[in-house]
Amino acid sequence: MVRIIGFFVGLAFVGMVFISFFVNIADYVANPPEETAEHEFHKHPKEVHFASDGPFGHFDNQQLQRGFQVYKEVCAACHGLTLVSFRDLAALGYEEPEIKAIADQWAIQVPSVNADTGEAATRKAIPADRFPSPYPNEVAARAANNNALPPDLSLIAKAREGGAAYTYSLLTGYQRQPAELVHKFPAAKTPQGLYYNPYFPNLNLAMPPPLTAEGQVTYADGTRASVDQMAKDVSAFLVWTAEPKLQNRRTAGFAVVIFLLIGTILGYLAYRQIWAEAKRKVRVTGPLEAESQAKAQAAKDDQGVAG
Ligand code: HEC
Repeated sequence: MVRIIGFFVGLAFVGMVFISFFVNIADYVANPPEETAEHEFHKHPKEVHFASDGPFGHFDNQQLQRGFQVYKEVCAACHGLTLVSFRDLAALGYEEPEIKAIADQWAIQVPSVNADTGEAATRKAIPADRFPSPYPNEVAARAANNNALPPDLSLIAKAREGGAAYTYSLLTGYQRQPAELVHKFPAAKTPQGLYYNPYFPNLNLAMPPPLTAEGQVTYADGTRASVDQMAKDVSAFLVWTAEPKLQNRRTAGFAVVIFLLIGTILGYLAYRQIWAEAKRKVRVTGPLEAESQAKAQAAKDDQGVAG
């Protein structure tokens, strides 16, 4: 009886699943989702190669230093890097006095407290400080940016699909809004104060194109500072800020794989060694004989245990 009831309950569940499945499909066919400008004009990140790509990826310190220079001279005006300290720059090959100087001359001071009055104040950065946000709080940040919040860039390479390729595409992707788009979706015209960029998920963002002219920064190593080069370098730098230990992780991973490989080979050889005798018996006497022998042996062992 219970079985029959269970059967019908199960049947009812399966029936419900089928009904909801087909009702939804019918609904989808009857009312197809509306086409949107995002759907049609959004582009995936460009194909671009970074030294840190792939299982053997590494950091190119020269490039990271150039990227840091772009961050410092362009992006830091609006974006903080509050998970990275000045002293972390040592990993890019900066010497301690250089780092001290960079912190000391940083355009934005860090929050502090007046030792005499206890009032909020600011002071010059030291190597132990994190790269400060240029705004005291979110309200101030939004007020200065058309109500949009410039995100902290420390983890942006991890936080956006496409990582460095996305940042690079975004920085080099600003363009005029295609006439076709406005013609087809008049409501999607880029609003006042926003900028059209097909790599941004909703096509219009509040960040004015930050890299606009060749030579906007003058690279210390003499590399030609084209917009493309600056975008690439700063994107590579943001991969480092998001995962400074990437190279160590890759090296450790590689060592572990080699270790496991050797372990597997040793394990296989040990297996061969241990079973060699048993296998030889099977080969000499044939499988049936070997089996009956094994059974006789087992029976003997059992008796031994019982007795
Ligand atoms: C004038 C201020 C300003 C400058 C300079 C600036 N940004 Fe931005 N940035 C913004 C604002 C505002 C947003 C938020 C845009 C939005 O949400 O519409 C933003 C957003 C971003 C985003 C996130 C986009 C997303 O997917 O949400 C990235 C990445 C970024 N900026 C990188 C940079 C880099 C790299 C530089 C330096 C080359 C830079 N920005 C310079 C104001 C600025």
